[in-house]
Amino acid sequence: MDLPMFYDEAEEWSNALLLYDAALKEVNTKLEILNNEFKLAHQYNPIEHITSRMKTPQSIAKKLRHNEKELTVENIVKYVNDVAGIRIICSFTSDIYRIADLISKQSDIKVLKVKDYIMCPKGNGYTSYHMIISIPVFLSDRTVETKVEIQIRTIAMDFWASLEHKIYYKFEGNAPEHISKELKECADIAAYLDQKMLTLNEEIKSFSKDRVEGYHEEVTSSYRSVVAESFGAVIEEEEVKTSVEIIQSTVEEEQTSDVEGSSKKKGSTKSGKKRMLFGLRA
Ligand code: GTP
Ligand code: MG
Repeated sequence: MDLPMFYDEAEEWSNALLLYDAALKEVNTKLEILNNEFKLAHQYNPIEHITSRMKTPQSIAKKLRHNEKELTVENIVKYVNDVAGIRIICSFTSDIYRIADLISKQSDIKVLKVKDYIMCPKGNGYTSYHMIISIPVFLSDRTVETKVEIQIRTIAMDFWASLEHKIYYKFEGNAPEHISKELKECADIAAYLDQKMLTLNEEIKSFSKDRVEGYHEEVTSSYRSVVAESFGAVIEEEEVKTSVEIIQSTVEEEQTSDVEGSSKKKGSTKSGKKRMLFGLRA
């Protein structure tokens, strides 16, 4: 968006754009982190790809005109919910709900509105999961809760929506009846494909689930709970020395009790404690 649309409000508009741009960056980063974490744990990407965009001035103006609102920055911020927009494309329908859930669970994100066009498809066949969320943008002198529209859909839903969009614009919303009918049929086929692919994937997953995987999850989760606090904490030098002394004395005590061959039970408890320090619960 290079040209200021509102010559008398150019500064306000620049400020608004800065906020929307920052909000998009924040949400994109959150999604990237979630996707990477998921990939590490499950060896697959729930997110196929992400696109983000800022609404064009023409499109903003059109929307306000449609709602019979004057073209001002105040009205844009108030009435246009998708100035900043993100589209997340997933492989399976189940990923859509998983991602929506993970987004809404983030403590700094507020979900303002949800439209589930998967549970309730539009008459033309459109399916997708829409969320309007707000995220705080921290500026030098204030924090601004900023709106972002998130659309989550499968590859098949996205394929359909792209073609529908093209047809809609080509015929300016008045496509010949047979085209609308065939498009609706395509939407049904896409929904069928999504369902089939999901069932197939679930079946494949049930084959690959083995005991080692369960063991791995148990070990990593106990390890995580041990180290979790350290990611956000700085241990002072004195405390480091003290903890080293504790470990040393535990080891010495244990060695003594091993030599004496006494209190096997006591020894194994300490040994467990020591091992927990390194996250290896043997
Ligand atoms: P706008 O449609 O943006 O004016 O807002 P709304 O309040 O009706 O929101 P809605 O959640 O219904 O739609 C928001 C966005 O979803 C649109 O801007 C499109 O990107 C997409 N969308 C909604 N309906 C359709 C549809 O029938 N076809 C296609 N291709 N995209 C759609
Ligand atoms: Mg709409």
